[in-house]
Amino acid sequence: MAIHKALLLAILGCICLGGTVTSARELNDDLSMAAKHENWMAQYGRVYKDTTEKMRRFEVFKANVEFIETFNAQNHKFWLGVNQFADITNDEFRTTNTNKGLKANPMRVLSTGFRYENLSFDALPATMDWRAKGAVTPIKDQGQCGCCWAFSAVAVTEGIVKLKTSKLISLSEQELVDCDVHGEDQGCEGGLMDDAFKFIIKNGGLTMESRYPYTAADGKCKAGSNSAATITGFEDVPANNEGALMKAVANQPVSVAVDGGDMTFQFYSGGVMTGSCGTDLDHGIAAIGYGKTSDGTSFWLMKNSWGTTWGEIGYLRMEKDIADKKGMCGLAMEPSYPTK
Ligand SMILES: *[C@@H]1O[C@H](CO)[C@@H](O)[C@H](O)[C@H]1NC(C)=O
Repeated sequence: MAIHKALLLAILGCICLGGTVTSARELNDDLSMAAKHENWMAQYGRVYKDTTEKMRRFEVFKANVEFIETFNAQNHKFWLGVNQFADITNDEFRTTNTNKGLKANPMRVLSTGFRYENLSFDALPATMDWRAKGAVTPIKDQGQCGCCWAFSAVAVTEGIVKLKTSKLISLSEQELVDCDVHGEDQGCEGGLMDDAFKFIIKNGGLTMESRYPYTAADGKCKAGSNSAATITGFEDVPANNEGALMKAVANQPVSVAVDGGDMTFQFYSGGVMTGSCGTDLDHGIAAIGYGKTSDGTSFWLMKNSWGTTWGEIGYLRMEKDIADKKGMCGLAMEPSYPTK
């Protein structure tokens, strides 16, 4: 048994470290990392096509775990976790459809009218959590389809429908992916929340999630789906203005675009995301509240569409009212919401 274990250690050490001579300590570290990788593969049902691919993924996994552990040992207001993205590099993550479903929108024409512009800040609630008001459906998972735009638009549509009709209905992202294909939006290849709102208006609403379930792939539009919920219009929040965004989020869930490509975003696990972040908008999420931590850090509460193994059981808190007018990860650059 002892011999067997020593042999196993030696084999693992040679394979994982490319045959270089290493200390017993390094072998042990690699063995426990290999065990971590195996556990992670089982947890996320990951299967590799061959040993070469597995070895390559193990190296990436190891580098990511080391990055996460180093980050967490530093003094940050948020922490990272070994989630479903742990065996892909950050470069790969940036090019996956999971992250880059938001189309670039250089020609964005703002809709006229911002109905919340004259609200007084004193009249706004100090904290807001639309989940507590029953206006947020459970966390969904877009998988490997670049349709964050659909999940973001649906989340805030579900919100306004609940507020206007007092019914919380989970609505169909797949209907947007399959049917909203004659304008800017291109299913799993990306889209824009405002264009999703335009489609929902023109389409006479959206059908229920249960009637038109999510497949995480482009499909043929099933015509004649009964609409379960409607909106009448949409408005854009004035750009780069977190105050204006607060007025809107105080009144309803709001779609926001962010740069979700940073490694700290890839592995975000909890706390209030602060510090540097890119502003190349590539991901759509939903602002569903705001608040302040006990240490006085103001934050936005966001709903993401990467399942419950990412973030705070699928949610994310990002620092609010930062010096950069674009907001954390660009969140104040392109917010919008449907009206009803
Ligand atoms: C806000 O107030 C200004 C000045 O009174 C007015 O012109 C504008 O229409 C108001 N906006 C809204 C959305 O009510």
